[in-house]
Amino acid sequence: MPSKVILGTQWGDEGKGKFTDLLAEEADLVVRFQGGNNAGHTIVIGEKVFKLHLVPSGILRSDVTSVIGNGLVIDPEILAKELAGLAELEVQMGQLWISDRAHVIMPYHKVIDGLEEEKKGKLAAGTTRRGIGPCYSDKMSRFGLRICDIIDSEELEHKLRVAYPVKKAYIESLGGTLDITFEDMLANYYEYGKRIKPFVCDTSVLINEALAQGQNVLFEGAQGIHLDIDHGIYPHNTSSATITGGCCTGAGIAPKQINKVIGVVKAYTSRVGTGPFPTELSDDVGERIGTVGKEFGTTTGRQRRVGWLDLVMVRYSVRLCGLDSIVITKADVLCGLEELKVCTHYVLDGKDIHDFPASMRKLEACEPQYHTLEGWPEMSSEEWKKCQEGGRSALPQGLAAYITFIEANLGVPVEILSFGPGRDENIYL
Ligand code: GDP
Ligand code: IMO
Ligand code: MG
Repeated sequence: MPSKVILGTQWGDEGKGKFTDLLAEEADLVVRFQGGNNAGHTIVIGEKVFKLHLVPSGILRSDVTSVIGNGLVIDPEILAKELAGLAELEVQMGQLWISDRAHVIMPYHKVIDGLEEEKKGKLAAGTTRRGIGPCYSDKMSRFGLRICDIIDSEELEHKLRVAYPVKKAYIESLGGTLDITFEDMLANYYEYGKRIKPFVCDTSVLINEALAQGQNVLFEGAQGIHLDIDHGIYPHNTSSATITGGCCTGAGIAPKQINKVIGVVKAYTSRVGTGPFPTELSDDVGERIGTVGKEFGTTTGRQRRVGWLDLVMVRYSVRLCGLDSIVITKADVLCGLEELKVCTHYVLDGKDIHDFPASMRKLEACEPQYHTLEGWPEMSSEEWKKCQEGGRSALPQGLAAYITFIEANLGVPVEILSFGPGRDENIYL
């Protein structure tokens, strides 16, 4: 299949980076289409751990072209640091292209992100404070600077002259300060623009030409479907379109160009940020899952909240994104639990609820209803290897039943089961 989309089906950190890197083996192009450096995608190759924030997870393969699409918001300082970090690790990177239409995160976006979060109180999302929301706000209100602007010194100066005093005044009205002068900001962004200019093009043209030639294009989602701006856990979500549709606008391709949509499902649920979390575990089991699963944010280092797998959430993702198949990650983290719970629906005011509600007040009041399954034992690496050789029929009974239950409930096949962070720790089912 020439084009595939990889999406996180929950609240992010499902293991999209690992699977993008894995599937990139057969790709010619790997394309990010939304978000910014709020993302943290981890790839483990042997002893080396790579944490990518902006650069697509195809970058570790020298024969793959990586594309930062128009739907992203780019902090050029972070991009430069990330590329320098990869060069230091002696990664043989493939070609990188950056969309001329992507928006640029400016220093004032980061200051505003922090100030607005503080003002919002309980309505805050617990953002990564990377300026993501304010930059997308400027995009929508047509007040933003795009990559094509910062590589053109006249346009940069013209737009910044308009934006700078407005943003400075807004920051001061919130009780903050913008520590950088107009002249310094202009000089810095002029430099960034000069540095990235050789990598800039109309990436929609590039991607569509590749598709027309029958090349394999892999689209890498960031965040998760439940962080989507329209369909996510508003207002605790992010500011971009994380669903399959976001791939069309954020990469500049037509819906009919998408051949396959793969959803990454963590075997339990995790969340970094605020807001209701129906299946959250605040007990010893939760602590154990968080510790064994090393559930700390890749971008901010914050401890992630964890809970049982919530199929109300994942079913919603199947519907919104037309998932063709699923990969399950972190099955190893659940080894050794006597029993496991999976949420199948909620009860609200005595009524069964099968769809994720829009209202946070209602979601808060939803009582998760669980199906209990038997667990499976701890497994040695030899035992996992045997499962790799034998496939589905070699899985321990509890794990096989867990997967069958998920498939039956979602109506989507599980294609791969991941049992560790490494590139080769996968079972093809
Ligand atoms: P992403 O944002 O979706 O790319 O996910 P993150 O990289 O933020 O978080 C996923 C974490 O789980 C990373 O540290 C991965 O290395 C790790 N990981 C991925 N798959 C597995 C797995 O099957 N088992 C275990 N134990 N860790 C995994
Ligand atoms: P990856 O791609 C998990 C969360 C933040 C916050 C909300 C809004 O690694 O899965 P933002 O900074 O985007 O304005 O924050 O979204 N969030 C993520 N949570 N993984 C991510 O990315 C996330 N990106 C944003 O914690 O609740
Ligand atoms: Mg992550």
